[in-house]
Amino acid sequence: MISHETIEKNIGLLIVLTILVVSVGGLVQIIPLFFQTSMTQPVAGLTPYTPLQLSGRDIYIREGCVGCHSQMVRPFRAETERYGHYSVAGEFVYDRPFLWGSKRTGPDLHRVGGRYSDDWHYAHLMNPRDVVPESNMPAYPWLDRPLNDTAIQAKLRRLNLVGHGYTEEQIAAAPAELAGKTEMDALIAYLQSLGTHAPKN
Ligand code: HEC
Repeated sequence: MISHETIEKNIGLLIVLTILVVSVGGLVQIIPLFFQTSMTQPVAGLTPYTPLQLSGRDIYIREGCVGCHSQMVRPFRAETERYGHYSVAGEFVYDRPFLWGSKRTGPDLHRVGGRYSDDWHYAHLMNPRDVVPESNMPAYPWLDRPLNDTAIQAKLRRLNLVGHGYTEEQIAAAPAELAGKTEMDALIAYLQSLGTHAPKN
């Protein structure tokens, strides 16, 4: 039996044993999650993003909204009273990459879907001060331009590689679904889809 003192005084041994303990501890915590359906299966009613929502999501990423907004309602009273049901893992299975974020200059957006009308979002994104006078969110007036997402079919095919299951008909119809839309339309469609399949209890 190696004494505690020997380990503390022998830096090489300490490093090896520390790595061993951290690895085993990590595996014990992480591996079971792969086998828990609540972690890997979509919540009831959740479907992959539509082509329009997916384009909007990419605009959300491009414009850096995640730098000021999280999408993760934590299971605390103060959060659930303000935003609604806390976020659960099964709501994010079609989120690649995740946009949980960690910075909240603005409110969490995970339950914003359906909270406001499309017109409200339009006015707010054109100039936040028009609807929330004290807002310090930047305006995004340039989003009111034609949506030009030429890669949409390639994106859907890529997501199919990780199991999103878009059908050939959906992929074929995607360009028509985006035709005539603005970037604003796509972003709003995405915002309206957020967190709308919260668990019922
Ligand atoms: C510099 C930080 C900042 C950035 C970047 C930012 N926001 Fe905001 N956002 C805020 C703040 C602060 C508020 C609260 C005041 C308000 O409603 O305007 C807010 C509010 C919102 C709301 C209303 C939320 C609610 O529950 O009332 C939505 C929706 C929103 N932002 C969407 C976006 C989108 C989409 C983007 C990217 C195009 C974005 N924000 C970028 C700071 C930001």
